[in-house]
Order: sequence, then structure tokens, then C-alpha cells
Amino acid sequence: MSHRSAELFLQAQEFLAGGVSRNTLLRQPHPLYVASGNGCRVVDVDGVERIDFANNMASLIHGHAHPAIVEAVTAQVKRGTAFTMATEVEIAYARHLCGRSANFDKLRFVNSGTEAVMAALKAARAFTGRAGLAKTEGAYHGAYDYAEVSQAPGPQNWGAPDRPASVPLAVGTPEGVLHDVVVLPFNDPEAATAALNEHRDEIACVLLDLMPHRLGLVRADDSYVQALREWTMENGALLVFDEVITFRTEVGGMQARYEASPDLTAMGKMIGGGLPVGALAGRDEVMKVFSVQGGAPPRLPHSGTFSANPLTMAAGLAAMQLFDADATARLNRLGDVARSKIKEAISVAAVPASVTGTGSMFRIHLRSTPPRDYRSLFPSPAEAEALRLFIDGLYDAGVVMIYSGAGALSTPMGEAEVDALAEAVLTSLRTVKTRLPGSGSGAAT
Ligand SMILES: Cc1ncc(COP(=O)(O)O)c(C=O)c1O
Repeated sequence: MSHRSAELFLQAQEFLAGGVSRNTLLRQPHPLYVASGNGCRVVDVDGVERIDFANNMASLIHGHAHPAIVEAVTAQVKRGTAFTMATEVEIAYARHLCGRSANFDKLRFVNSGTEAVMAALKAARAFTGRAGLAKTEGAYHGAYDYAEVSQAPGPQNWGAPDRPASVPLAVGTPEGVLHDVVVLPFNDPEAATAALNEHRDEIACVLLDLMPHRLGLVRADDSYVQALREWTMENGALLVFDEVITFRTEVGGMQARYEASPDLTAMGKMIGGGLPVGALAGRDEVMKVFSVQGGAPPRLPHSGTFSANPLTMAAGLAAMQLFDADATARLNRLGDVARSKIKEAISVAAVPASVTGTGSMFRIHLRSTPPRDYRSLFPSPAEAEALRLFIDGLYDAGVVMIYSGAGALSTPMGEAEVDALAEAVLTSLRTVKTRLPGSGSGAAT
């Protein structure tokens, strides 16, 4: 129990619906309120310091208050934060990002990953003239109605494994939305292709995260991505990658690790340098849907009051210039060390647990066999409760993590922070050991 945070949550509930503006912050018995962050450490309002492996849901690649980003933002804030005029820094940043991948001919900035995915789906519709979309079951792509379909189905409504049902997330989701979204099983090319074949002339695009965190941070197989690429090409549809999280994996995003290239890519999180951001990049021919051509209105009219605001542009450009090939490779190596030390902790604690992820991301599962997809990940109530207690234990041991068991490294981290993480994992696993289904009884050694 954190006294000041408890007090603040009481105040918050008077004015904020549910006490927060984002449900991700909710934890029992109340959210923690932060006082400040510096590098990879955060201090809460009760003065407790922790190492931050959540990094605002994997969005802070350089941790908190990196001097170069602070300098860039401070200089820009003095010159103004938003204008009804374009800025040079927007061009400089677009040039930088387009230079990171051969798949990015042109780009548009928006304000969140949700918006980037929404713009990508609408661009695909505008390009193809079709309304239908396809996505993998359980994948999280932000808060656009269509992208939310089958984000969190359960055994009671998810349908057959090879032909998942289109399940609404929010009460009141229009039937038309469900009708327009085909849900695909993950890493099953035959079943995915069969489901798509039922809608050959209706699909504008297939939306895919190459390592969806809600599916356990498991990588999409090359054969799966290739099958989706081939199907979309043969059927006049586009392939859209959601790299809002995975872009950190390589200089040009996780797509650099695949042979198949997307038509469009949605980005967000780390490319804002700590400020709200989203971006959509892709093939010139497709991105033309945003352009006014010969006086005719664009196929996809698109604006946003704060899109490409110079504050975000300055922060993002500074952050991404720092996150070059060497920095990416160093953080990926540290990710390998983190996953191997977590494995060691699991083995010392002798509990049924496992770790997934690649590059600078990892996810801990309280099961000896890592998940393959959304359904194999789906926890029983006892498993969900054990995971909650495990993450609470990490907080108690001085580590901030995402409550799914996922974590992301930041560049201020080194082996010392990874050692501290592994130690916290060991301590917390020992504490929850007896609560883990399948671990047998008896105290941890
Ligand atoms: C893969 C993916 N896509 C899209 C989003 C939505 O981004 P935002 O929260 O910036 O709207 C998220 C956010 O967690 C995400 O993880």
C-alpha cells in the first residue's frame, strides 16, 4: 500500500471516469502515481524508486528525460508548440524515417498508434475501393472499432480454431463492423488462407503485427507472413504491418527480418521520443490516396490538429537519431542476456514458467510451455491471479513491469539492471510458487 497514491486515487475517482484516463494503469488496490523519472529509473509519490521495464508500454526507448531529447524539446517549446503552418522539422523527421526502410517511400504523421492503424486501414480501403479487413485473433491494434474486433474473445464466443468468429470488444459495436472484419488464426497459413478465400473480392487489406504482444510475444512464422503476402497480391488486397511496438527490433523495423514486404506500415510509441505520436508509411502508389491530385479531392481526406506538431517531431527525431544501428544492436544483445537470465531464474526457482520475445522485448509466462497463439495463451482465472501476484511481487522487488508479464528495455540500461530484473523475477517466482497451477506444493527452495 502506497499512502500518497491511495489518497490520490480517491481524489481521481471524483473527476476521472473509473479514476484514470487509461485502464492500463489500473492495479490493485490502486494505481501508483509517479513523481519523476530519469534514465531507466522512476520514483513514485511515496519516494520509492524502481527500475522501469514498462517504459510507458514500450514507448520510451531511451527511458526518461534523456538529455538530448530534453534539449530538443526545450528549444522547440520556446519557439512554439503547434501552428496552422507546416514546419521544417516535420520534413527532416519524415526524411529520417523514410531513410530507415526501403518500404517507406512516403509517410504521414498522426498522434497515436491507434490513429496510425486507422489511417492505414482507411488508406487500404481508399486504394482498393473495398470495405473488408482481416486481422489475427487476439491481436491488439489500438482503439479503432474495426481493429478492435476479436481483440479479447473467450472460449464462449471465439468459434472454431481454424475459423475464428468476429467478436466485438465493446458493448454496442455496430454489426456492420463485425461483418467487415475477417478474423484469422495466427501462424496457421492454410486456415488463414481458407478464411480469406471466402471473401476474395471484399478484402482491402490484411493487418498483421509480426510479434503480437497479446498473443504472447511470439514471432509470426516466415511461412505465415509469406502466405499472407501471396494471398494479398493474388487478390488485389494490401498487406499492412502494425509495427507500433516491434519497430524497435531493427533500424527498419521487425519487417527487416522478413522476405515479404508490406504495402503500408503503422508506427507509434518510441518514434515520438516520449511524446504522443503515430505514423503511417508505405509505397508511393498507395500513399497517393492522401494527395490532392490535379485539383480533385484526395481519395482519403486526412487531417489532424496536432499531427506532426513540432514538439513531437523534435523529440522523435532526436530519439531516433540516437537509436541507430549500433544502439539497436546493443539493446538487442542486452535483450538476449535478459531472456537468458530470466530463464536461469525460472530454473533456479523450479517453477513452471517460460519467457518469449526477441530484440529488446520479453514476456514472462507462468507456464512451462510458451504460448503459440491467443488461445494457447488464454489464462484460467487461477493463472491470471498468479500472474497478477507475480507482477505485484516485481514491483515490491523494485521493478516496474507491464501486467501482462511483458517488459521492454531502454538504452540507459546495462547488465546491472538486467541482473536486478533477474533477481526480482527469482524473488517473486519463489513467492508465488505455491499459487502456480501445476507447480506442485511446497515452498520454493
Ligand atoms: C501493436 C499496437 N498497435 C497499436 C497500438 C495503439 O497505440 P496507441 O496506444 O498509441 O494508440 C498499440 C498500443 O499498445 C500496440 O501495441
